[in-house]
Amino acid sequence: MSVASPILAVRGLKLSIRTDEGIARILDHIDFALQPGHILGIVGESGCGKSTLIRAVLGILPLGATVEAGDVDFAGEKLLRLPERELSRRIRGSRIGFVPQDPYLALNPVFKIGRQVLEIMRWHAPGRGAAQHRERLIGLLRRVHLPDAEAALDRYPHQFSGGQRQRLLIAAALACGPELVIADEPTTALDVTTQQQILALLRELTEEFGLSMLFVTHDLGVVAELCDETCVIYAGQTVESGPTRELLDAPKHPYTRALLACHPDRSDSFIGIPGSVPSPLRAAPGCRFAPRCAEARPACTMRPPHLDTLIEGRRVDCVLYDELESVVA
Ligand SMILES: Nc1ncnc2c1ncn2[C@@H]1O[C@H](COP(=O)(O)OP(=O)(O)O)[C@@H](O)[C@H]1O
Ligand code: SF4
Ligand SMILES: [Mg+2]
Repeated sequence: MSVASPILAVRGLKLSIRTDEGIARILDHIDFALQPGHILGIVGESGCGKSTLIRAVLGILPLGATVEAGDVDFAGEKLLRLPERELSRRIRGSRIGFVPQDPYLALNPVFKIGRQVLEIMRWHAPGRGAAQHRERLIGLLRRVHLPDAEAALDRYPHQFSGGQRQRLLIAAALACGPELVIADEPTTALDVTTQQQILALLRELTEEFGLSMLFVTHDLGVVAELCDETCVIYAGQTVESGPTRELLDAPKHPYTRALLACHPDRSDSFIGIPGSVPSPLRAAPGCRFAPRCAEARPACTMRPPHLDTLIEGRRVDCVLYDELESVVA
């Protein structure tokens, strides 16, 4: 059986940002691959570098950011090597759609919805007529179940609820016919019922439009519902990845185990993992989870835990993995 090439592969991505307080080493060797037609979840606590990772993939990094190593391959193109003009004209917003975390911040409050989205559609497909763009957008707004889709074009963002704005943004992300959609915690700002509806919609649209999706979240419960594969990151390092079901049924990395153990579905306690994600300004060498890891020993802080080892089809970046298996199993 031939295995398809990934539509998106991030390899050895290392990124820092120069700040007034020093160099923030935000990403340190991020690795994952998204197969065509799949949904890959990127999961980790707040502050682990998820949004920075997405910005690096989309080429929208803040001032002072430097990619020190690694590659981002999208459908055969090396995105990190493309000039900004190419990225904005051919890739971002057209072949890669983006659904942001906060539907309240993502839309310009002073322009009507139609004007905002149709302008992007015209930029990416100038050859199509205004009526064609309008028709396509109305069709998409109907598809995402936005009430009164045609009239919505003439309304301002504040005239929609949070859930409706997120539907609008999903339609906008699909407007130019992308192959890949990247969603950064798109349901975090929504109530539980709306969150469930949006997750179901994203799953349907992925199949219907033949999309691939990179879905970022801090919630393993969301990953369980939506994602085919999962990549767990901690403090800018990939710690474990593999098929979601297997990863959640038998987590191998101590961080994945800890995240799962304190998830509300499995624990009555509201207490999370003791300690907190370290500041990237004080990133230690070796495994960044060491100060919070019950299994840590001196060797863990000496060398980086990037093993590139597949264990039962999964990757686990823990230097003591073999030893742990006999201790924890
Ligand atoms: N522009 C920036 N300058 C300095 N530090 C930043 C910048 N953007 C993000 N960070 C830091 O990088 C770390 C990861 O942030 P972020 O990517 O937003 O994580 P997540 O999305 O997982 O919550 C955090 O410690 C954050 O404070
Ligand atoms: S490398 Fe060491 S500190 Fe890091 S998760 Fe594994 S056992 Fe814990
Ligand atoms: Mg974020």
